[in-house]
Amino acid sequence: MRVSVAGATGYLGTRVVAALRFRGMPVTAIVRNHVSSPALRTLITLGSTVVAVDAGRDEPYESALVDADVAISCMASRNTGMDPANDFWAIDRDANIRFGVAALAFGVRHVVLVATFEGPASRRYSEFSEAKEQAVDAIRLACGAAGARLTVIRPTAYFSDLTDRAFESVAKSNRYTEIGDGSHRINPIDGHDVADLICRQLEAPTLKDLEIPVGGPDIMTFRDIGRLAAASLGRKEQLRIRRIPVGLLRALAALAGATGRLSLRLRRSAAILNWMIYVGTHDAVAPCMGERRLRDAFAAKRLALDSRRPTVAPLTP
Ligand SMILES: NC(=O)c1ccc[n+]([C@@H]2O[C@H](COP(=O)([O-])OP(=O)(O)OC[C@H]3O[C@@H](n4cnc5c(N)ncnc54)[C@H](OP(=O)(O)O)[C@@H]3O)[C@@H](O)[C@H]2O)c1
Repeated sequence: MRVSVAGATGYLGTRVVAALRFRGMPVTAIVRNHVSSPALRTLITLGSTVVAVDAGRDEPYESALVDADVAISCMASRNTGMDPANDFWAIDRDANIRFGVAALAFGVRHVVLVATFEGPASRRYSEFSEAKEQAVDAIRLACGAAGARLTVIRPTAYFSDLTDRAFESVAKSNRYTEIGDGSHRINPIDGHDVADLICRQLEAPTLKDLEIPVGGPDIMTFRDIGRLAAASLGRKEQLRIRRIPVGLLRALAALAGATGRLSLRLRRSAAILNWMIYVGTHDAVAPCMGERRLRDAFAAKRLALDSRRPTVAPLTP
């Protein structure tokens, strides 16, 4: 079974390629370009075939899909991309649809699309979610027409953006920022666990389409995540909590939305703010599919941090 993976240099993508290669499957890793990076070197070391397709430039997927049986998309717009060719409409929606449709044209029988847990509920509030959900809808239709199988993986949050920001902020200034009162619950999941789940889907195929919500083993409030970071870092002093009032975010989102026609930047800000409000004010607890724990991920980060600290030279008389 040859598997093509779009977004292979990302947090989840590298883990998916690793999990597939670990199981001995031939993999085509699709990257934006061949510019050397740690992720690209990892993909090469893993023995995948690396093919560059810049989705922001509408480059064709054909060479990345030749001989593929399964196509997996872990592709998402980077938060840094402010240009229309790389924003969430262009990548999360359009590029994902083009990838899915091209995969079907090349005879792929199973498409796996990674979306978000909160997407179906939050799409009404945020264009950021709507873009990805439109891709899910379009690819579902295309798979139906082609008689191919679609699996939509819906993780809560990875041990990456959200939890990294928490750890780094506490490590730097013992400060933790939360939306509202930080009381909403989530069970973040390690990307390796999501990757393993995807592999299991390929190995034990069923004929019906599946939507799989996935979360990790620990259900925690957003406040708990900050506290866990502080405990992992051995902080003795009280964690400093900075609360962003939901009302303030709503006002900013409304302002950005009202002026959004004037600039792409404002429109994007409105979408991201509305998404942040949704995520910060709703529980996101999915069935536990992961084994790896956030406290172990934080402990590993603490070790890495300590090993980078300069050791104090002994005082000589
Ligand atoms: N992060 C979370 O907590 C979370 C939670 C739930 C669901 N998800 C979903 O899970 C999936 C994977 O997320 P992630 O956090 O692993 O994403 P990520 O680390 O941001 O990776 C995004 C990938 O998309 C690629 N990409 C972006 N623009 C591109 C372009 N113009 N041409 C070609 N490739 C392009 C990136 O390539 P470069 O490396 O070259 O930029 C990267 O490989 C996404 O669908 C995301 O919505 C994420």
